[in-house]
Amino acid sequence: MEDALADSGTLIAMMSPAFPVWPLFDLRLRCRGVVLRPVTEADLPHLAQIQPSDWEHDPHAELLPALDLRQNRARLCYQDYWRSVGTWSPTSWSLEFAVETDGTVVGVQALEAEQFPVLRTVGSGSWLIERVRGRGIGVAMRLAVLGLAFDHLGALAAVTSARTDNAASLGVSRRVGYADNGVSLTDSAQGVVELSQFRLTAPVWQAAGHGGEVTVTGFEPCRPWFGLGAPEPDQEADRTAAR
Ligand SMILES: CC(C)(COP(=O)(O)OP(=O)(O)OC[C@H]1O[C@@H](n2cnc3c(N)ncnc32)[C@H](O)[C@@H]1OP(=O)(O)O)[C@@H](O)C(=O)NCCC(=O)NCCS
Repeated sequence: MEDALADSGTLIAMMSPAFPVWPLFDLRLRCRGVVLRPVTEADLPHLAQIQPSDWEHDPHAELLPALDLRQNRARLCYQDYWRSVGTWSPTSWSLEFAVETDGTVVGVQALEAEQFPVLRTVGSGSWLIERVRGRGIGVAMRLAVLGLAFDHLGALAAVTSARTDNAASLGVSRRVGYADNGVSLTDSAQGVVELSQFRLTAPVWQAAGHGGEVTVTGFEPCRPWFGLGAPEPDQEADRTAAR
């Protein structure tokens, strides 16, 4: 009986989104015990406080001279969020997810694209607080956004890059199944550094079967945000009922 009530509650929630004007906030991704939900303004104080020092901010970002580095990075955390929400367009978007384990926000996983309707290619970026690293959460959260990209958005490829000395980030990409895609150079706070490039295609993703581990809810109303066709109102309810 309780299960039935819980299921009907879930069903009602799916059919009546909490954020009808900005349905992205209702998106939920789940993989291997990790829950991803879009960052909201209410998350910013916590995220600005916990963002790790080895998460490199945009080296081109202007730093306000009167603020120290910690204050500047906190400000940039806020501004990056407002920019991504305020400039959202189906052709150019960046969706940042708060990553939760055991109900606690422990990091951020971003999925982003330029000219998505034409190129169908997504990129990603992520960070976790140090305490929870090395337990497979990095892989789970990458799988979660790739499940959204390949199995719901119709992405054809995912690309990513990391410094050649960032073993953890390289480890996530290799574990998920990306192929090496060369080396590039970029400038950073430490000068010019090498980046390892990776690419994962839809057929490789499908063959690996990772999509079966990812659950996505709240997606249908978001379709126009990605330049896809109109939402199919019954589809979410049907999927939930079938589970
Ligand atoms: C990158 C990051 C999100 C990875 O998350 P994580 O939870 O630590 O990674 P996982 O536990 O899922 O490990 C993924 C793989 O990398 C390997 N790995 C993780 N940390 C490693 C390390 N320090 N050295 C070598 N390998 C490492 C793991 O063994 C695993 O590979 P395997 O499954 O083949 O054994 C996290 O380390 C982080 O926040 N780093 C700082 C910010 C950053 O660099 N972000 C990426 C910028 S491009």
